[in-house]
Amino acid sequence: MQAWMLERYGDPQQVVSLRDVGSPAPGREEVHVRIDAASINPIDLKLAQGALRSVQRLALPICLGFDAAGEVRACGDAVSRFRPGDRVFLRSDRATLGAFAEAGCFREDWVAAAPQSCDAGEAASLPLVGLTVVQGLRERAGLQSGQSLLVHAGSGGVGTFAVQYARMMGIRVTATCSRRNAEFVESLGAEKVICYDEQDYRSLSDRYDCVFDMLGEAHTLAAFDLLRPGGSVVSIAGPPDRQFADQVGAGWLLRQAIAFKSRPVWRRAESGGYRYFRYLTEPHAGQLGEIAGWVDAGDIRPVIDSRFAFADLKQALARCASGRARGKVVVQSAEMAAT
Ligand SMILES: NC(=O)c1ccc[n+]([C@@H]2O[C@H](COP(=O)([O-])OP(=O)(O)OC[C@H]3O[C@@H](n4cnc5c(N)ncnc54)[C@H](OP(=O)(O)O)[C@@H]3O)[C@@H](O)[C@H]2O)c1
Repeated sequence: MQAWMLERYGDPQQVVSLRDVGSPAPGREEVHVRIDAASINPIDLKLAQGALRSVQRLALPICLGFDAAGEVRACGDAVSRFRPGDRVFLRSDRATLGAFAEAGCFREDWVAAAPQSCDAGEAASLPLVGLTVVQGLRERAGLQSGQSLLVHAGSGGVGTFAVQYARMMGIRVTATCSRRNAEFVESLGAEKVICYDEQDYRSLSDRYDCVFDMLGEAHTLAAFDLLRPGGSVVSIAGPPDRQFADQVGAGWLLRQAIAFKSRPVWRRAESGGYRYFRYLTEPHAGQLGEIAGWVDAGDIRPVIDSRFAFADLKQALARCASGRARGKVVVQSAEMAAT
């Protein structure tokens, strides 16, 4: 079978190549999945570049990719929820990856039944962004119906899911995006859109119970100025929070580096009585099952920017790297493209 392998760290266009690799056999707790579609996430590019080496050292060469959808072909002895022929979607973990391949073996507890209303490309677009929203806005910030939320980059992969999740939960959501995406983001459920190419969100007097920060840098500190008393900043691009070092199993030196980098944000949060969360997303079959239910109920729809053939993965990576995708970039197998 074929897989897109990362040979060494560097420019993804140079260091990722299509290779013939051995066909995997599932371990006791694994399912062997024929991958019909996968989706790209910005972290795929960061891992390839080696930008996350300090928190996630990869065993190279490795097949990249977190998000996949396809059909179960075989199950390990201890697998209880699946049988060959089941349609599934999954989110792999940071050490295993493996979605940019024709097939792979994944732990059962990373896998769920795919939404019935989706094709494989749509199903593959959901796992990482959906889990990121659930693990940030629900598990950490505990956002409730009636509260208010600002979602940055509401037109991106995470943002399009976050806006729809908030609307579904009765959370009043404002989003930032460019003028060209404003109508689209409103159609997903944003009550208000702030077009970053026309207006600086920092100049407005609106205040929120939570800011979901996809932008990082100065935007992370600026988020605290937008909060109501007791509010939260949930960031997936800013400096680490106090739990992050435990999440990545950091040693002493990395803990010192994290504390040095994060101190201004931690101080801002603590002096203002705010909460700050900066986390990495983890696989979670149960949450994937919930996401499938929301999609099948019509509460959340997959948003696909573009689809590429599996053989054109590098074009898909380039589209994601452009930072201009509206929703998710998907690659799909030749068989699926033909249907
Ligand atoms: N747990 C985690 O650590 C975690 C999980 C998921 C993602 N992330 C990170 O979160 C970030 C976002 O991920 P993503 O998948 O949503 O990225 P993405 O899909 O590539 O985001 C692209 C979108 O961002 C919008 N955008 C760009 N600059 C903007 C600005 N200044 N203000 C508002 N919108 C802007 C673009 O809209 P225009 O084309 O209109 O500009 C585009 O629609 C990435 O850095 C990713 O690595 C972290």
